[in-house]
Amino acid sequence: MSLASIKHRQGMNVSYINEYQASVNDKEAFWEEKANLIEWFIPPQTILSKDKHGIDRWYADGELNSCYLALDVHVKAGRGEQVAIIYDSPVSGKKQQYTYNQVLTEVTALAFYLDSIGLQKGDTAIVYMPMIPQAVFAMLAIARIGAIHSVVFGGFAAKELAVRIDDAKPKVILSASCGIEPSRTIHYKPLLDDAIALSQSKPTHQLIFQRPEELAELNKPGDVHWQAAMSEVEGQTFDAVAVKSTDPLYILYTSGTTGTPKGIVRDNGGHAVAMKYSMKSIYNMDAGDVFWAASDVGWVVGHSYIVYAPLMQGCTTVVFEGKPIGTPDAGAFWRVIEEYKVKSLFAAPTAFRAIKKQDPAAEMSTHYDLSCLDTLFVAGERLDPPTYHWLNEKFKIPVIDHWWQTETGWAIAANMVGIECLPSKAGSASLPTPGFDVVILDDAGEPVPAGEQGNIAVKLPLPPSCLPTIWQDFERFSSGYLDSFPGYYLSGDGGYLDHEGYLFVMGRIDDVINIAGHRMSTGRMEEVVGSHTAVAECAVIGVNDDLKGQVPVAFVLLKDGVAISEEAIFKDLSQNLRETIGAINCLKAVFIVSRLPKTRSGKILRKVMRQIANGETVVVPSTIDDPVSLDEVYASFDRELAEV
Ligand code: COA
Ligand code: AMP
Repeated sequence: MSLASIKHRQGMNVSYINEYQASVNDKEAFWEEKANLIEWFIPPQTILSKDKHGIDRWYADGELNSCYLALDVHVKAGRGEQVAIIYDSPVSGKKQQYTYNQVLTEVTALAFYLDSIGLQKGDTAIVYMPMIPQAVFAMLAIARIGAIHSVVFGGFAAKELAVRIDDAKPKVILSASCGIEPSRTIHYKPLLDDAIALSQSKPTHQLIFQRPEELAELNKPGDVHWQAAMSEVEGQTFDAVAVKSTDPLYILYTSGTTGTPKGIVRDNGGHAVAMKYSMKSIYNMDAGDVFWAASDVGWVVGHSYIVYAPLMQGCTTVVFEGKPIGTPDAGAFWRVIEEYKVKSLFAAPTAFRAIKKQDPAAEMSTHYDLSCLDTLFVAGERLDPPTYHWLNEKFKIPVIDHWWQTETGWAIAANMVGIECLPSKAGSASLPTPGFDVVILDDAGEPVPAGEQGNIAVKLPLPPSCLPTIWQDFERFSSGYLDSFPGYYLSGDGGYLDHEGYLFVMGRIDDVINIAGHRMSTGRMEEVVGSHTAVAECAVIGVNDDLKGQVPVAFVLLKDGVAISEEAIFKDLSQNLRETIGAINCLKAVFIVSRLPKTRSGKILRKVMRQIANGETVVVPSTIDDPVSLDEVYASFDRELAEV
């Protein structure tokens, strides 16, 4: 971002600018100072250095433990009796609270047990669990040992879990007997059994937390009854193991353009500093405040702002097992805010669109005392201006859209209310956060003028917490993020900076789509659609959706001689996608066409198809092979509109 462009903004207080400027003018000095926010076992002497691949690394010679920072630090400081975790589960009717002392007791016993079954520093362990406190205990216990956790979102089906097992090769998997969705019970154990059967890599143990709503059969080699194991080790403790700042804390798989998920690696030191720093500077949260990120531990938002950042900051975090609507109604968020005196709520725009649809006047919010709520944060997808205006009008508190990715672990752009609450702009994620030197590049890698759209990139070095590699695949990291524009990190999003330096993130420039704040790959969906016996060729694109932001639509060419109706193939493909990837896919439509629009070199013109679907200006490249092929795309969406 051009600092000059924001400096001359009238009325802007200097605090944010000073902070931002310091972070880009002398990155090392800036992050050296921020390193003091956390308690190191061995404080780093080297602030910024290069690893063997030439990648920038933070605090390489520092040593610490992330679980220690989340728990022990507070207990030692005399905050052990403060509530650390509030569990509120409208789907099971349970409410529980755990103090820092209690969480530490649970976590150290679990770490002791995991160590006793052979999980060691540097080993990997998968956590495949619903939104229950034990999922948080699992992550922290693994971190305490110095092992690496990989949490897999509970909404993923067995095949997706198997792919992650084969990539992460976990020694141990921690799971639960079931998850509870409003519409049904999710049978985790059979899904886990299927995934292990499908994968080449086999864990030695599966620790299963038995929920009373549905007990699992523990009949596979390595199955362990979680509660029974815990009663055996009750009272045991386990000292946090020192790890290097650059040792991985976790791997979190996210969708890329190919069908294979990318294992984003997060280090311990840079992440801990960024968590502590962001919790105050972006979210304005202090020890003792209640923070609620209404996400899931399976996503990066859950990792950063349900687990690590609030706990490292000594806050109380809310683990909510429910939905914004239907559990039991559109007042669920407001009820939780009042009940626990939530100071800041962080949720996906889709959650507010769902509430707005059911309760347009926000009448349910008036039944609750929301005076404790200072700020509303949203991310996961762009906050569409109508929802932004609705939230502003109904709640009259700052509504902050902020932009980030699994790759970074914290916001690349935000309105940093802990430093200075600047005016927000509808449709903008506000200003780049310290350490992120955001630029907009054209396809040739040249910066574009303010107001012009292009590829959003970040000048290297990236600040602490950002990925140093893809798990076991440096080549994929380099080719996917660094090689396109040397000296820059390519975010995969497109957008622009306005004349005042505000960033507008307009959407992905690749084939990743965002369904209800969940990042999904259309490439992966195409693999599933293309494997249907009737399908010769296919394209899956994301089309705009009023509630979920985007939903997938498939275009299929049938094999010669095959006759199947659109209705029948839609049913088959919806089912296949649910079973292979997960129910969150919610395929919207399938269109049978006789050809797909392509370039002369055979590349499917998905972007053009998206533009047609979304009623945007259609830019047809001169390399199109057969312009008439677009007619069927137009006709399909016309037909769809007519049916609606
Ligand atoms: N485990 C298992 N299944 C899950 C799941 C989970 N954790 N989360 C969702 N699913 C399933 C649901 O049960 C549903 O299955 P069904 O079709 O058999 O009923 C399907 O996936 C779609 O669920 P969902 O995306 O919740 O859609 P919905 O129409 O039921 O609800 C919203 C719409 C907007 C209320 C919901 O999508 C929502 O709460 N979105 C916010 C999500 C969010 O916080 N994202 C941010 C991540 S940072
Ligand atoms: P994830 O890695 O799952 O957090 O998804 C990251 C992607 O979600 C980004 O690359 C964006 O495409 C999208 N995204 C997240 N937050 C925002 C936001 N505030 N505005 C626009 N897009 C967003």
